[in-house]
Amino acid sequence: MNHLQDKTAVVTGGTRGIGRAVSLALAACGANVFALYARSRKNAESLEKEAESRGLHITTIRGDLSHEESYSHTVQQLHQACDHIDILVHSAASGVHRKAMELSEKQLKWTFEINFFAVHKLTRELIGKMGRGGRIIGITSPGGTHVIPNYAAVGSTKGAMEALFRHYARELAPEGIVVNLVCPGLVMTDVVKEVPELEKLLNITLEYTPSGILTTPAQVAEVVTFLTTDAAAQIVGQTIVIDGGKGLLA
Ligand SMILES: NC(=O)c1ccc[n+]([C@@H]2O[C@H](COP(=O)([O-])OP(=O)(O)OC[C@H]3O[C@@H](n4cnc5c(N)ncnc54)[C@H](OP(=O)(O)O)[C@@H]3O)[C@@H](O)[C@H]2O)c1
Repeated sequence: MNHLQDKTAVVTGGTRGIGRAVSLALAACGANVFALYARSRKNAESLEKEAESRGLHITTIRGDLSHEESYSHTVQQLHQACDHIDILVHSAASGVHRKAMELSEKQLKWTFEINFFAVHKLTRELIGKMGRGGRIIGITSPGGTHVIPNYAAVGSTKGAMEALFRHYARELAPEGIVVNLVCPGLVMTDVVKEVPELEKLLNITLEYTPSGILTTPAQVAEVVTFLTTDAAAQIVGQTIVIDGGKGLLA
């Protein structure tokens, strides 16, 4: 597919895990991709190298989106580099993993800063560069609608994000900007590898996943890419679940 030739995409959290796969998939369809990240220069450099070796256009921009100064620096670079933006994918996320009753207000606020407020702030910042045919896609999680152990903070931010995106979808569809979310099941990325009792989580997930396999970053990226096609233009305000059927049994 080459349907994104001359299109510009911004992918937050675009250098690692799911976001990295999205950056590569959109660039492989011809997009000029700006992959944002917070800290890990190593991942950014390896993405830049991979893109170069494949002849893809990916530029990485470093900046913690939850901090005023680095946020401003990031958007300044985007404003300078992009006349228009066609696709905005929100994949960046972080957060404190605790039970709800062990979660302080400060920890919850910090998690909301990156997973919710930074999403809204960046969307409002860049919306003026988007127009008819534009796409905004959020990556949410089953924790936005279901209870996952120690996921009270991140799950709350995802639930809030889903509600906000329904409003985005309603408000922006008349302007030709299509908003959706994708919701992967468990995907083995760096952040998941650090989860306590990972083996137990994996066993339970696989036991309750009818397809019997975990979702991969590339599979999530393919669905995100499909949402950028003309064929998907009438999918508005939906959450597309990519979990091998696990949600059927939860
Ligand atoms: N993995 C799963 O099982 C799973 C399942 C469902 C949904 N999701 C969702 O999918 C998305 C991607 O998850 P992932 O597993 O691929 O995550 P990941 O591997 O941890 O990657 C997270 C990305 O977000 C960036 N980031 C984190 N904090 C940031 C901040 N304050 N400012 C700017 N960028 C920041 C990171 O930059 P650095 O590399 O510099 O830290 C990294 O590029 C998230 O929204 C997650 O909630 C994941």
